[in-house]
Amino acid sequence: MKITIFNGSPRKENTLAMATAFAEGAKAAGHEVEILHVGRMKIAGCLGCEYCHTKGEGKCIQKDDMEKVIPAYLESDMIVFASPIYYFDMTAQLSAAIQRMYCIGKPAKAAKAALLLSAMSPNPFGGAIATFKDLCAFLGIEVAGIVTAAGDENKSEAKMKEIFELAKAL
Ligand SMILES: Cc1cc2nc3c(=O)[nH]c(=O)nc-3n(C[C@H](O)[C@H](O)[C@H](O)COP(=O)(O)O)c2cc1C
Repeated sequence: MKITIFNGSPRKENTLAMATAFAEGAKAAGHEVEILHVGRMKIAGCLGCEYCHTKGEGKCIQKDDMEKVIPAYLESDMIVFASPIYYFDMTAQLSAAIQRMYCIGKPAKAAKAALLLSAMSPNPFGGAIATFKDLCAFLGIEVAGIVTAAGDENKSEAKMKEIFELAKAL
């Protein structure tokens, strides 16, 4: 499978450690993996102008880093969203990248998705998990796994192994 991990963190710390463990597990199983650092990209929110569904024929009227993200959405067999929790949700950058998918509707090939979330406090994950599950149901994509890391679990050997094994079993 071709797997793209959309890393919503602007930092190269806890979320990237989760994304890297996932990438290593998936590569060990023979999959092709790319990590896109969406958290550092310039991606504006959707304008809801419907240009993409009318004159734009699937193309967004806004020209920004979303042009790097769309091909990955279209070409991946599996998409992985990785994000730190910012106020009980995924980061604004990753949320914008997800909402800007509106111009293409369901990613053409994606059959599976996974979610990796990092946070400081014990359980602020409910909102992001609900969004992810609802999105997968809406798009008709199978939920292949959800892993959270809170506080000391971040970068821990046990958590990295859990993520590695999940990806290796795909
Ligand atoms: C703007 C902001 C908002 C945050 N909100 C939360 C929160 O609501 N709950 C929580 O447990 N941690 C929160 N955190 C902490 C991060 O989720 C946590 O440090 C995470 O491990 C950072 O991941 P990273 O190293 O990949 O950036 C917040 C951090 C920032 C910068």
